[in-house]
Amino acid sequence: MDKLKMQSTNKVAENVKKIAELFPNTLTEVIKEYRKDGSPIMEYAIDFDLLRQELSDVLVEGPEERYQFTWPDKKSSILLSNAPIAKTLRPYREESADFDNTENLYIEGDNLEALKLLQETYLGKIKMIFIDPPYNTGNDFVYEDDFVQDTQQYLANSGQYDEMGNKLMQNTESNGRFHTDWLNMIYPRMRLSKDLMADDGVIFISIDDNEEENLKKICNEIFGEANFVATIVWKHTQQSKNDERHFSRQFNYILVYSKNKALLKDFYFDRTEEDNKNYSNPDNDSRGLWRSGDVRSPNYRKTLCYNIVAPNGSVINPPANGWRWSEESVKEKLKTGEIIFKKDFTGIIRKIYLSDQKGRIPENLWEGGRFGTTRQATAVIKDLFGGKQVFDTPKPVELVKSMCKIGTNKEDIVLDFFSGSATTAHAVMQINNEDGGKRKFIMVQLPEEVDEKTVAYKTGYKNICDIGKERIRRAGKKY
Ligand SMILES: C[S@@+](CC[C@H](N)C(=O)[O-])C[C@H]1O[C@@H](n2cnc3c(N)ncnc32)[C@H](O)[C@@H]1O
Repeated sequence: MDKLKMQSTNKVAENVKKIAELFPNTLTEVIKEYRKDGSPIMEYAIDFDLLRQELSDVLVEGPEERYQFTWPDKKSSILLSNAPIAKTLRPYREESADFDNTENLYIEGDNLEALKLLQETYLGKIKMIFIDPPYNTGNDFVYEDDFVQDTQQYLANSGQYDEMGNKLMQNTESNGRFHTDWLNMIYPRMRLSKDLMADDGVIFISIDDNEEENLKKICNEIFGEANFVATIVWKHTQQSKNDERHFSRQFNYILVYSKNKALLKDFYFDRTEEDNKNYSNPDNDSRGLWRSGDVRSPNYRKTLCYNIVAPNGSVINPPANGWRWSEESVKEKLKTGEIIFKKDFTGIIRKIYLSDQKGRIPENLWEGGRFGTTRQATAVIKDLFGGKQVFDTPKPVELVKSMCKIGTNKEDIVLDFFSGSATTAHAVMQINNEDGGKRKFIMVQLPEEVDEKTVAYKTGYKNICDIGKERIRRAGKKY
């Protein structure tokens, strides 16, 4: 008689996993027990406080010690992202080109509210998000939400409101809530953006050293560590500047997360001539250009260490770790011509055909023409605006186009809710023009006033939305 299995499956661990799939931010690690030597054995657990917070519309308190990344007002920002708002979007037909046909959207306002309003129509529908939020350099303005008592008092004292009564404050390190304010700003927005993403969607977030580490922690929490795709390092300048004491910074980061990595499509760039330079066809193979590939096993395997006998009878010994395939497979591949003997029968050659390559898998270091530089990005703006530099911190169209290339198909929707000069809209129009796609864009931008001393103001653009919308009109005309 078969013995009954006496082990039960670990139901608790399974349940923890199920809840973590729904609310990745509630997954934590706790001490399960101690070994004899006093060292702790850890296990995954659900942070009940955070789970209760997810299910509650009032603040939930809780003091337990556990593995977590937190900051003052974190729970308030969960509340803030879950709280509904009583606002609607008002269309401006007269400002829109072809309002009834294009499904592109330009939303003026605070992106927290916009992200909530978009949930109604776009829940689970956005394939790609690119955002370039304020990096928290100590100079940029961070939009303040309502819940932070300390900051409200600070604002009341300092009177830093913009003309529309919005609370735009310069986040300086002397603020005492430097990272806190930035985290409270970004966290609810990231949570809301995840819900807008399609199950096979992807988000690219550009950031620098100031908050990269914190951003990664909150993204791991919101999207789940398993959905981390990559940190791209983007070389934004070719110039070496002498304005820092220790390093001249030439790189920024772009964090890439998916909603569900298992569903995320494979990423490919088009292959360039440079990528194909190692392919040739010296033996007039009817399958076209090929290059030789590795025939060695990456790890030692005894069963893969066998001799191959060439047609002239000479014996080819295996490499140190063995061959890449079993003896059977090699025989098969020799028959199909995928493997051939070297002319002098001293070894074998594996053919990798160009026609089998779908494209080039992107590296996580982005530099050069395919991605552009900050300088090129500014030149594009100048060119569009008759020689006037109306926006100081644009990203290159090429950079965002590269993301669209790998992250979208031709009919997808792309969202940028820190859209600035609307580079993302420009990139979407340009890539559609190049590949015949019908991607749509949604831009969100706060009507942040521009300084009276700037070229933008003097040219007639009173806030950043004026600049973004004009760029879309001008770039749109080009295509
Ligand atoms: C670094 S810029 C983005 C530049 C953009 N990638 C480009 O290429 O032009 C960040 C933008 O986010 C905007 N912003 C900041 N807080 C915002 C908020 N709460 N809602 C909407 N936009 C906001 C700022 O006004 C600023 O223009």
